Amino acid sequence: MNSLATALLEKIHTRQGRAGVVGLGYVGLPLAVEFARAGLTTVGIDVDARKVDEVNAGHSYIPDVPTADVARLRQAGRLSATTDFSVVRDLDTVNICVPTPLRKTKDPDMSYIVSAAEQIAKHLHPGLLVVLESTTYPGTTAELLQPMFEASGLKAGKDFFLAFSPERVDPANDKFNTRNTPKVVGGTTGDCSAVAAALYGTAIDTIVPVSSTQVAEMVKLLENTFRAVNIGLVNELALMCDRMGIDVWEVVNAAKTKPFGFMPFYPGPGLGGHCIPIDPFYLSWKAKQAGFEARFIELAGHVNAGMPHYVADKVGEALNTHRKPVNGSSILVLGISYKRDIDDIRESPALDVMHVLHQRGARIAYADPHVPSLRARDWPGGCELTSVDLTRDSLASFDCVVVVTDHRAFDWTMVADAATLIVDTRNAIGATAGPHVFRLGAPQQKSPEPESAAA
Ligand SMILES: NC(=O)c1ccc[n+]([C@@H]2O[C@H](COP(=O)([O-])OP(=O)(O)OC[C@H]3O[C@@H](n4cnc5c(N)ncnc54)[C@H](O)[C@@H]3O)[C@@H](O)[C@H]2O)c1
Repeated sequence: MNSLATALLEKIHTRQGRAGVVGLGYVGLPLAVEFARAGLTTVGIDVDARKVDEVNAGHSYIPDVPTADVARLRQAGRLSATTDFSVVRDLDTVNICVPTPLRKTKDPDMSYIVSAAEQIAKHLHPGLLVVLESTTYPGTTAELLQPMFEASGLKAGKDFFLAFSPERVDPANDKFNTRNTPKVVGGTTGDCSAVAAALYGTAIDTIVPVSSTQVAEMVKLLENTFRAVNIGLVNELALMCDRMGIDVWEVVNAAKTKPFGFMPFYPGPGLGGHCIPIDPFYLSWKAKQAGFEARFIELAGHVNAGMPHYVADKVGEALNTHRKPVNGSSILVLGISYKRDIDDIRESPALDVMHVLHQRGARIAYADPHVPSLRARDWPGGCELTSVDLTRDSLASFDCVVVVTDHRAFDWTMVADAATLIVDTRNAIGATAGPHVFRLGAPQQKSPEPESAAA
C-alpha cells in the first residue's frame, strides 16, 4: 500500500478525515448523515441552494432522514452544506450522488456526472478519494471519470483514489436503511478498493468488495434489471390472466408458498421511480456498443411501458358497465407517487395513467397524502392539481376511482364502500368487495342475478 493510501486510512480510522458528498438528494443526504454520525466531519455539496440552506438550517427534506438527526449533527459541527466546490481542496473523500436520467431517446444522460466531475477535477489533490455512487453503465468510472481526473497529471491508484460503489437505498423501507444494507465496493486498484472500503466501513455494517469498478457498476444494473424483468413477466401474466379469467393475485400468493426457487413479484400499473424504469436501459445502451442486443431488457421495457394504457383501457371497460364513456367522466386517481408510502413522483406510472385518461377526455383529480399538489409541468396533462380530501362524499362524487398507489394511509374499507366504481391496480381492495371493483389481472365479480331473471 502506498504512503498516501496509508495516510488516508489513518485519517479515516481516527475520524480525522473530512468527507464530502456531492448531490444531497434521496441518496446523498442519508449518506452524508451516516458519515457525520460515524464521526467524520462531512460537507454536502449541491447546486440547489435551497437544499444547502435547509441542511445548514438543521432541516431534513428527505422523509427517511429525521430532521432531529440533521439538527443534532449540525449543532455538533459535523455536518454542513455548500454550493461551492472549492471545499474539495480541504476534503479527504468525495462521494458523487448526482442524478443519472435517460434522454428522450433512452440514451444515458451523463451531464450531471460530467458536470460534478469537472468541478471536482478543478480541486483534485494528492490523497483524495473519489467514489461514484450514481447508477450508471459499466465502464463509466474507468472510461469517463478516470481520464477526466488524470488530465490533472495525477494518477489514479497512485496519487489519488477512485472507486465505484452502487447505492441501494430503498425509500420507506422499515427494515433496511443506509447503515444495514450491505455495500458493494470496487476500486480502480487494490489501494483504491481498500480506502473506499474503509470509508464505508465507518458508517455501514457490511462491505462487499469486488474486483473492479466495472463489476461494481454491473452489480447494480443486474439488481435493477432483475426487478424490471420479473415485474415485466408478472405484468404479462396479469394480461394473460385477464384474458383467461384467472386471478393473477391468487396465483402469485399461492406460488410464493413454495419455500425455495420462487420469489414473488406483483403486477401493477407500470414501473416508476428513478431506478427500475431507467437503469436497465443504461445496460442495454452499453451492450449495444459491444454489439450485443439485450433482449430481456427490451421486452420487459415493452411490457411494462404498456401497463398504463392497459389500466386506462380497464377504466373504459369499467365505465362501460355504468353506460358511461371515458370522455367527460370524472376520475379520481388514488396515490400518485411511484410506490407506497413515499412522496417521490419521478417516472410514476400514475402520471402516465392520468395522461392517457386525460387525452381520452376524462376529468382528472387525484388524492395522495404524500403529494399535496402537482404542478402542471410534472404531468403530461399539464394543469395544476391539488390532492382531494378523501371522504365518503368525495369518493362517491366521482364516476370512477383508480387505485394506482396503495399507501397505507388510505382507508380501503371506506374506499370500497363509498366509491361507485373502482379500478384497483394493486389488489388493495381484495377480491370480495363486490362487482363495482375491477381488479387488474383478475376476473370481474358477478353482479347478483336480478330477481326476475333468476325466477
Ligand atoms: N432514489 C433512489 O431510491 C435511488 C436508489 C439507488 C440509486 N439511486 C441513484 O442515485 C443517484 C442519485 O439519485 P437521487 O434519487 O439521490 O437523486 P436526487 O435528484 O434526489 O438528488 C440528486 C441531487 O444532486 C444535485 N445535483 C445535480 N447536479 C449536480 C451537480 N453537478 N453538482 C452537485 N449537485 C448536483 C441535485 O440538485 C439533487 O439535490 C442516481 O444515479 C440514482 O439512479 C437512487
